[in-house]
Amino acid sequence: MSNFEKLKEYGQEHLLRYFDELSDDEKSSLIAQINEADFTLLDELKEKDKNKVSDNSSGELSPLGALEIEEIAKKREEFEKVGLEAIRAGKVAALLLGGGQGTRLGFNGPKGSYNIGVTRDFYIFQAQINNMLDVCRKADCFFPLVIMTSDKNDAETRSFLKEHGYFGYPEEKIRFFVQDMAPSCDYNGKIYMEGKAQLSLSPNGNGGWFKSLVKAGLDRELKESGVEWINVFSMDNVLQRICDPVFIGATILSGTNCGAKVVSKNAPGEKVGALCLKDGLPTIVEYYEMGDELAAELDENGKLKYRFGVILNYLFSMKRMYEIVDEKMPLHIVEKKIPYMDESGNLVKPEKENGYKFEYLAVDTVRDMLSCLSFEVEREKEFAPIKNKEGIDSVVSARELLAKNGVIC
Ligand code: UTP
Repeated sequence: MSNFEKLKEYGQEHLLRYFDELSDDEKSSLIAQINEADFTLLDELKEKDKNKVSDNSSGELSPLGALEIEEIAKKREEFEKVGLEAIRAGKVAALLLGGGQGTRLGFNGPKGSYNIGVTRDFYIFQAQINNMLDVCRKADCFFPLVIMTSDKNDAETRSFLKEHGYFGYPEEKIRFFVQDMAPSCDYNGKIYMEGKAQLSLSPNGNGGWFKSLVKAGLDRELKESGVEWINVFSMDNVLQRICDPVFIGATILSGTNCGAKVVSKNAPGEKVGALCLKDGLPTIVEYYEMGDELAAELDENGKLKYRFGVILNYLFSMKRMYEIVDEKMPLHIVEKKIPYMDESGNLVKPEKENGYKFEYLAVDTVRDMLSCLSFEVEREKEFAPIKNKEGIDSVVSARELLAKNGVIC
C-alpha cells in the first residue's frame, strides 16, 4: 500500500496538509514517520467505542497465592545457590524499562537522571546500579544490563550515564535499545501533529520491550551468550533488588516460565495491580479493574484474598518470550494531555485531556507466560517507588525508606 493509500484508508490525509511547504529533508522525515507508524492501532479505537477494548474486567478471578516471606527464609540458601549459579553461568540478564516520560514527576529529562539526594548527589540510576553491584559482588561477576530508552530520552540517557562513568557498572556489559513509538490522536481518531513535519508520537508503553529488543537485534546477542532469563524492572523503585539470586533460584526451581516479585498490599485500595488467577491463568488485575468489594474480600485467615501486589520486577523465560513474540498484546487506550500544533501552526500544551495514547503494558505479558511464581518480598526493604515529587510514592517517601535501609542521600 502506498503512503497515500494508507493515509486515505485511515482518514489521516491531514498529515500532509503542509507537505508542499516542507524542505526535502522534512518531506523525507515525514514520509518515514508515516511509513513507520502503526495505523492499525486506530482500528482498536472503534472497538473502544463499542466497549470491546481488551481489559481484565471479565473472567473468573481466584487468588494465586505466593511463596511467602517465611517460606522463602527457610529455603533461602538453596534458592540463592541456584540463583548465583545461573548468574555465574551467564544465564541471567537485567533489563531496565527506561522509556517512560515520568510526567508525574514533572522533570524534563530521563527519570533515572533525577537527583534525589539532599546531602549529596544521588541519582535514581545510581540507586539502581548500586543495587545491582551488590549482587555482582556476591556473584563475583557482572551480568548484562540492557537499558530500554525511547526516542524522547535515548541520547540524554546515554550521555548522562557515560558522564557518570555508568556509576561503576562496566560499560562493556551495558547495551541500549530504543522502544517503539505510537501515534497519539484526538477523540475522533485523527493523529495529532506536533509540527508541520512531525507526527505526535510517544513511547508505546513498557509492554513492547521484547518486540523492540528483537527489532534491535539484541535478543540474539543475549541468546548467543547463553542468557535464558531476563529480569525486567522499572526505573521507579529505588529499593528493589535486581537479579536477586534468591528470586532467580526460586523461580528456576518452581519450573514456571516467569517469576513476579510482589508485596502485601497496605490497604485493599492500594494502587498496585494484584497478581491472581483469571480463568486459571496468572493475571495482573489493576486496582481500578478489581472493584472495592472484591479487593476487600478476606480469606479464611482474615487476610486480604487478593493481597499480593506487583512491583514491576519480573523474571521472564527467554524461551517463552520467543513463543509469544508474534502474538497480539492487549492494547490500552489512555486519555492524555497531548501537545499539538493548532491551525495557526503554534504548539499548544493543553490543560486537560484532549485525546488518546496507545500503550502496551508489561503486566499483560505475565498472562502469556502461562505459569508464574508469585514471590513475596518485604515492602519496607524492597519497595520505594518514585512516581511523584511529594506525597505517596514520591521522592520524599523514597528518601525515608532508603534511610531506613541505611542509604542516606
Ligand atoms: P510508568 O507507568 O510509571 O510511566 O512506568 P512513566 O512514564 O515512568 O511515568 P508517568 O506515568 O508519565 O508519570 C513504569 C516503568 O515503565 C517504563 C518507565 O520508564 C518505568 O520504568 N516505561 C513506561 C517505559 O519503559 N516505556 C513506556 O512507554 C512507559
